[in-house]
Amino acid sequence: MLTISTRYLKYFVNHDKIIVDRRKTMEKINYGLIDEILEKHGNDKSKIISIMQDVQEEYRYLPKEVLQYIAKKVGISDAKVFGVATFYGNFSLDAKGKYVIKVCRGTACHVRRSDKILDAVYESTGLSPDKLTTDDGLFSIEIVSCLGACGLSPVIMVNETVHPQMTPEKTRALIDELRAEEAK
Ligand code: FES
Repeated sequence: MLTISTRYLKYFVNHDKIIVDRRKTMEKINYGLIDEILEKHGNDKSKIISIMQDVQEEYRYLPKEVLQYIAKKVGISDAKVFGVATFYGNFSLDAKGKYVIKVCRGTACHVRRSDKILDAVYESTGLSPDKLTTDDGLFSIEIVSCLGACGLSPVIMVNETVHPQMTPEKTRALIDELRAEEAK
């Protein structure tokens, strides 16, 4: 049975320990949903980028099994589909956490000590340059060169939300808040 990490993870907080409800940490790939996306685009190979964008919106990345499925459905080779997926920087073949934290290390943010913000994210999540997604599937980290909000530096972004003028304290509080939200 094919499975992937899901963004619909639920957590139960027991004192300071987060216990992952393992029954919900994985879910089957919803091929019905993939079919709906394919149908929306007429199973048209010329719409392959839009198809992939919709799949990534659902899963936050492009599961390899799904890419192979799409290739078969629209009638192109696996190599072609994987070629598109790896060519465009916006596509990811790696599973991402529910919350993708983008830490800006561009010049404006750098001079306002974004290195301290990055350290705070690493400390609060247990992530590191070698570990980009937490085992519980809650957080992923990305380091970016500019988020287009230099006047508000230092800046981080969590999914689609920009958080301006961050400090290590605010960063830790934000991560705690996201965890608390998951525990509800
Ligand atoms: S350098 Fe950080 S937002 Fe531009």
